[in-house]
Amino acid sequence: MRNIFVYVGSRNGEASKTLKIINEILKKVYCLVEDKSLNISVFHPQNSYIERCRGCISCFFYGKCPLDSTDDMGKLKSEMLKADFIIFGTPIYAANVSGDMKVFFDRISYWMHLLRLCGKPAIAVTTSTGNGISFVSEYLYIAMSFLGLKVIKQLNAAIFDLSQLEEDNLLKQEIDNCSRSIYEYLMGNKKVESDKTMEVIFFNLKKAIIGYEKMPNYEYLFWKNNGLLECKTFNELLQKKSMLKDFNIVEF
Ligand SMILES: Cc1cc2nc3c(=O)[nH]c(=O)nc-3n(C[C@H](O)[C@H](O)[C@H](O)COP(=O)(O)O)c2cc1C
Repeated sequence: MRNIFVYVGSRNGEASKTLKIINEILKKVYCLVEDKSLNISVFHPQNSYIERCRGCISCFFYGKCPLDSTDDMGKLKSEMLKADFIIFGTPIYAANVSGDMKVFFDRISYWMHLLRLCGKPAIAVTTSTGNGISFVSEYLYIAMSFLGLKVIKQLNAAIFDLSQLEEDNLLKQEIDNCSRSIYEYLMGNKKVESDKTMEVIFFNLKKAIIGYEKMPNYEYLFWKNNGLLECKTFNELLQKKSMLKDFNIVEF
């Protein structure tokens, strides 16, 4: 079974244009996968409750968020770790990601120091009426890359009317391209490869983590115990990770 995880930061639930575009992508993926062995988990603020980060820093220090047991984030995190492919989608609000999308990222900020989703391919989707696209798209790309995800496509749709899903040939083409790419990665025809962005992120994170050597904190132990510190490059980490089912959870 291949698992796809989706989080859409729109409170419009099933009526969300962002979700509708992602559903179009997923429908096409489903058509392409012959044996239909697909498990797709779609979350958004109408079907999952995520509290705002309280800033207690427990996640950075101990690798645990006290809110995970009282809201749905613990469940979403385990679904993400299980996933073979990740899709994050957000409407653009005030030239930024939506508040819900930002809360989602805040709650996994500490994963951005651990490259926790390393080795997974991903797509970033934004919808808007056309303003703030480059900033938001870049933000999503950076946030996702720090999670260790390989962003293979970014779909940024300026959408005014859902009829565009039927009539806008460029949008239809982009949806098609996303579906085909997802299919290729799910089938193993394409493999996640490193790139300059991922190498720079790995280099800088590793430098910061080594700084904790004399006073090992949770992040240092995670890097050490899971062999990240031994890797010279992100590419090396990808090879190592492909042999592991998942990183070990470090108790601290
Ligand atoms: C509070 C709010 C702020 C918005 N700000 C922007 C914006 O800065 N730039 C833009 O192009 N569209 C903006 N929009 C339009 C939405 O991004 C657009 O309608 C989006 O497709 C809605 O997605 P959804 O249906 O998935 O919620 C805004 C909409 C709302 C409700």
